[in-house]
Amino acid sequence: MRSAQWYSGDDRNSYIHRAWMRRGLPADALTGQRPQIAIANTASDLTPCNSHLDEVAEHVKRGVWEAGGVPHNLPVVSIGETQVRPTAMLWRNMAAMAAEEMFRANPVDGVVLLGGCDKTIPALLMAAASVDLPALVVPGGPMLTGTFRGTPLGCGTDVWRLSEEVRAGTLSEQAFLDSESSMIRSRGHCNTMGTASTMAIMAEALGMTIPGTAGIPAPDSRLLVRAHEAGKLAVRLVDEGVRPSRVISAGSFRNAIVALAATGGSTNAVVHLLAIAGRVGVPLNLQDFDDLGSDVPLLVDLQPAGRHLMEDLHRAGGLAAVLREVADLLDPDALTVTGRPFVEHLAEAEIWDREVIRPRETPLQPAAGIAVLRGNLAPDGAIIKPAAASPHLLRHRGRALVFDSIEDFHARVDDPELDVDADSVLILRGCGPKGYPGMPEVSNMPLPAKLLHLGVRDMVRICDGRMSGTAYGTVVLHVAPEAAAGGPLDRVRTGDWVTLDVPGRTLHVEADLDAREPSEAFRAALARPRRGWERLYVQTVMGADTGADLDFLIGASGDAVSRESH
Ligand code: FES
Ligand code: MG
Repeated sequence: MRSAQWYSGDDRNSYIHRAWMRRGLPADALTGQRPQIAIANTASDLTPCNSHLDEVAEHVKRGVWEAGGVPHNLPVVSIGETQVRPTAMLWRNMAAMAAEEMFRANPVDGVVLLGGCDKTIPALLMAAASVDLPALVVPGGPMLTGTFRGTPLGCGTDVWRLSEEVRAGTLSEQAFLDSESSMIRSRGHCNTMGTASTMAIMAEALGMTIPGTAGIPAPDSRLLVRAHEAGKLAVRLVDEGVRPSRVISAGSFRNAIVALAATGGSTNAVVHLLAIAGRVGVPLNLQDFDDLGSDVPLLVDLQPAGRHLMEDLHRAGGLAAVLREVADLLDPDALTVTGRPFVEHLAEAEIWDREVIRPRETPLQPAAGIAVLRGNLAPDGAIIKPAAASPHLLRHRGRALVFDSIEDFHARVDDPELDVDADSVLILRGCGPKGYPGMPEVSNMPLPAKLLHLGVRDMVRICDGRMSGTAYGTVVLHVAPEAAAGGPLDRVRTGDWVTLDVPGRTLHVEADLDAREPSEAFRAALARPRRGWERLYVQTVMGADTGADLDFLIGASGDAVSRESH
């Protein structure tokens, strides 16, 4: 047992480690014989989507005790997607680094990872991979469906939709504000197929949850049963030495990419999976998302790509029912924390509502995965989610309208004099990992008000930032290299002709970019943090095409600690 390095023996240091931990624990809890399980808990009042995780942790504890282990609540860095500025993504790597270090530094043998809101599960998986202690995830679950004026409200997605209706003049401001109290009906994370739901599904597809856990609504008592089982399983993983490096393989990422496409999952999963792969040491690159995912049918009719919400997906059979339809596309050998192949857990699954989960024969879209685009605007690649785009814009040529920052965009977008029409291509730059910094979710720029009034509801938009997993539109994201790292986006000008060809996988501008310099306005808008985390981040963050991790965090260091503390 790893914790025996702290607790066994009768010298001064083991005395210190034990004595300060006793506080009512039975004497045999700290002899170095029983697995010490940390519950990495992202509960926080300022991460509202995770605020119920203390109760989930209590049920994990029960399971750990029952199986003979000793549980320890370990609060870790928590990030509330809707609360923190300038963007939650700025701290994903910090949360991952802090959790990794605390897992390693403490006398623990295994970890149960409690996350929910967007960045929390990716950060915990990155941490667990780099320390490589036995681990599994209990996702906090989505909230229940709220309704407004008799219609279900999708978190995020309907905020974007309703706010555009206000700008278009088809919804009153008062009605918009009235909907606010109906948006968040219960505990849990966003109920759309946004990033939180997607990353819970990714964790399960990677083999890192008890199968059937992702998507159980947060208030559903069955989630607490799963938490209890996860506590028991954590003890078994320690006994059997099952580490993330034994569970997560190239096949696991194949399964995750297929699941991402079949469920219409968030584009943010691309940067998160690439970052997790970098930690595990599995070769995965941007092109794999297109190669493995783009021909996978979209089977789940959930917002933002469709109509329903997470509660409906769970009722309809959940992830297993979806993936059973495409089981032939999955890796037959990729494991789960149960020790059995992932595909084995699909055998019993059934679709209970064919409106929510479509059978393979009648998909919502025949080929729905992420498309990876390249060209002189994105030599290292950019992505688009065709499932959330307008079919008529997937092949498009239009004149660029360039914004040097999100502030520049907001200042000009609703100007009646703005030279823009429905065919214009809106370009926003300086929003990559280094540029903002932190790669915010600003790529789905709101449309110019004067076009909204004309009934325009989608336009081609291009950005080196991200887009909320709850958003939709014909938006080219994650352009790499980013403008702030010298990517060609920094030299495109208003008026240039831009061609997007999603079927052909190209993104091209008709201009000799090499002959140009970036504009002064663009340079002036770039972030230049002088100290602290932002400075470290800007100096060391890598491109979106490799997962936007910090360059010195790639890979794993294992769980060894070389020196005593006293
Ligand atoms: Fe937390 Fe959407 S804001 S999951
Ligand atoms: Mg988000």
